[in-house]
Amino acid sequence: MSTEPTTTFAAISTLEERYQLATYKKMPIVAERGEGVWLYASDGQKFLDLYGGHAVAGTGHSHPYVVKAIQQQCEKLLFYSNLVYSETRARAAEKLVSLAPASLTKAFFCNSGTESNENAMRMARFATGCTNIITFSGGFHGRTADAISATFLGKYRELGKPNVPGHIEAEFGDIDSVRELADENTAAIMLEPIQSMAGVRTAEPDFYRSLRELCDERGIVLIYDEVQTGVGRTGDWFFAGSAAGGHVVPDIITLAKALGSGIPVGACLVTEHIAAKIKENDLGTTFGGGMVAMAAVTATLEAIEQDGMLANVRAVETHLRERLKEIEQVVRVRGHGFLLGIEFADKAAPIHQALLERRIITGTSNDSKVLRLLPPLCLHASDVDRFVEELREALGG
Ligand SMILES: Cc1ncc(COP(=O)(O)O)c(C=O)c1O
Repeated sequence: MSTEPTTTFAAISTLEERYQLATYKKMPIVAERGEGVWLYASDGQKFLDLYGGHAVAGTGHSHPYVVKAIQQQCEKLLFYSNLVYSETRARAAEKLVSLAPASLTKAFFCNSGTESNENAMRMARFATGCTNIITFSGGFHGRTADAISATFLGKYRELGKPNVPGHIEAEFGDIDSVRELADENTAAIMLEPIQSMAGVRTAEPDFYRSLRELCDERGIVLIYDEVQTGVGRTGDWFFAGSAAGGHVVPDIITLAKALGSGIPVGACLVTEHIAAKIKENDLGTTFGGGMVAMAAVTATLEAIEQDGMLANVRAVETHLRERLKEIEQVVRVRGHGFLLGIEFADKAAPIHQALLERRIITGTSNDSKVLRLLPPLCLHASDVDRFVEELREALGG
């Protein structure tokens, strides 16, 4: 049997499909290396990546500062759990909390978005003594039992049958629907403040303010799932506290995706009030807070700061919105910063495919007319110009 590395697309895709269970429908790319907004395939093709591997490549692919920090940590200590203190972990927690809205004072680290949401819901139940969680139609919160039960998007919830009891669906953007459902059993209201997979659906700032008021009135924990919106994606560090969100700050923010630039890591940021309810052994995780992930978190946040990526997101978003006005098939551009949904008059899937043929990676969504862009935060105006020209051609000139 040959142990020679296989490099052709056919060989590698056949090998992977033979030995790996099906997950997503894959693009015909064998990813080999990345640099900034570019993904290089094994056959030498170069792709402009406006999707970032499910919004993970926030700092861009293999940002040298992040890579170096990870390498240095690997040489010192790959891992030890929360049974010991670690300067790397302490610094990551300090850095993350320092960037968060002031009332969120403590971090819990885990390994993924779904796990962040599971822990956030659990903390809300501890804090209130109540069981029920209100989430929203169109929201996606992950694939583990509690998180998938909180997901009222498409058929995802069905995949998690039998669902965890106590999950209740309200209408996104409709505060009356939430008021009707909130009662003495409600532990938390949890939402993606911008519903990404649903097609980048936003709400008015008043909606978030009303949710905050309702939670304050009734002692309900407000959780923002910022797995996609967090870590600079909207042009602010977090959607929480931002002008687009009416300056509302929830009781818990959950994070993952871009937080480790590709090293798996999730986090919950919580208020003192919630933190005070958590005792030793209430929460636990083997890998959460591991040193390599923590080095990646600190370096990711520092790279975003050093490179001025938040200002870049805001400036390049404005440029993109301006340029997209030239494309008559674009009905609307939804979202904020680099979490954008381009709504077309017709189906987005063929446009996604035509762009891929032009070596531009974008994302689709549950809204068949919306193409999603979740590019690295270092995307440049010239990349936008290239995208718009290719889009024009993909649409037939
Ligand atoms: C808003 C949101 N929450 C949670 C998750 C789940 O994150 P993970 O896949 O890291 O478990 C996702 C993943 O796409 C997400 O978009």
